[in-house]
Amino acid sequence: MDVTNATVFITGANRGLGLAFAREARNRGAAKIYAGMRSASDFGEPGLIPVTIDVTDRASIAAAAELTADTTLLINNAGTAALIDGPLASDFEEQSKRCGYKRLFDINYYGLARVTQAFEQTLSSKPHAGIINVLSDIVWLPRPYLAPYAASKAAAWSYTNQLRFHLRDRGIEVLGLHVGFVDTDLTNGIDVPKSSPEDVVRKTYDALAAGESEIMADQGTALLKSTLAAAVPGYITPPPGLI
Ligand SMILES: NC(=O)c1ccc[n+]([C@@H]2O[C@H](COP(=O)([O-])OP(=O)(O)OC[C@H]3O[C@@H](n4cnc5c(N)ncnc54)[C@H](OP(=O)(O)O)[C@@H]3O)[C@@H](O)[C@H]2O)c1
Repeated sequence: MDVTNATVFITGANRGLGLAFAREARNRGAAKIYAGMRSASDFGEPGLIPVTIDVTDRASIAAAAELTADTTLLINNAGTAALIDGPLASDFEEQSKRCGYKRLFDINYYGLARVTQAFEQTLSSKPHAGIINVLSDIVWLPRPYLAPYAASKAAAWSYTNQLRFHLRDRGIEVLGLHVGFVDTDLTNGIDVPKSSPEDVVRKTYDALAAGESEIMADQGTALLKSTLAAAVPGYITPPPGLI
């Protein structure tokens, strides 16, 4: 599926990767771009139509889906993360709560599922439709300080695989985006090499156009994925340089 001439709906499109998805869709000649966001009051990006949506709120999802029933490409991008000391910290739950332990699942997993469900009829009614789910290298890579985030993204990856199989006969393409650190607000203060959001979204739209089911948007993630069938895969012993 090509983003050119598509009508795109992106969650979390006011900043970060979501805004980069919206801008690149505009660059590529998308017919219409709905920029989903929790608060649309001071958003004024030319060519992008702000739509209020909170992925934890069913009513706001339903209202957004109704307003944007011409959508042909849904991008489930909204997400959040939280740093903790590690999976064996005695106050694991407390630390995670501070950053919203249940909230990570509510946004990264249930939010993605809720929005997808709300757009199913809209997408099913179109001759060509697609869904991009923004996932992460963390579904395979052990980074103990991101344990709750990793669990929520692994759940979203699993959901993506179930969804792709479920939709295989309905002409709805499902693309999973896996990527390591990207230079957005989410990784502020983490001093590691990062991909640019613009590069990630260009690769993702190219993969969608090529009919791929998954995109590993940086070299490290591609290397990690290549180890999955090894006797000692990267989720047990990560390739050097990845953590
Ligand atoms: N940055 C990375 O290194 C990286 C790597 C792999 C995957 N990802 C994934 O990429 C996606 C985008 O992240 P980002 O890096 O662009 O982070 P970001 O700059 O922090 O942006 C997160 C976006 O999600 C929105 N959001 C959060 N909770 C929401 C909710 N309940 N309902 C609707 N929107 C909500 C935020 O809206 P507000 O402005 O209202 O908070 C914001 O627009 C996430 O799914 C993240 O897990 C990021």
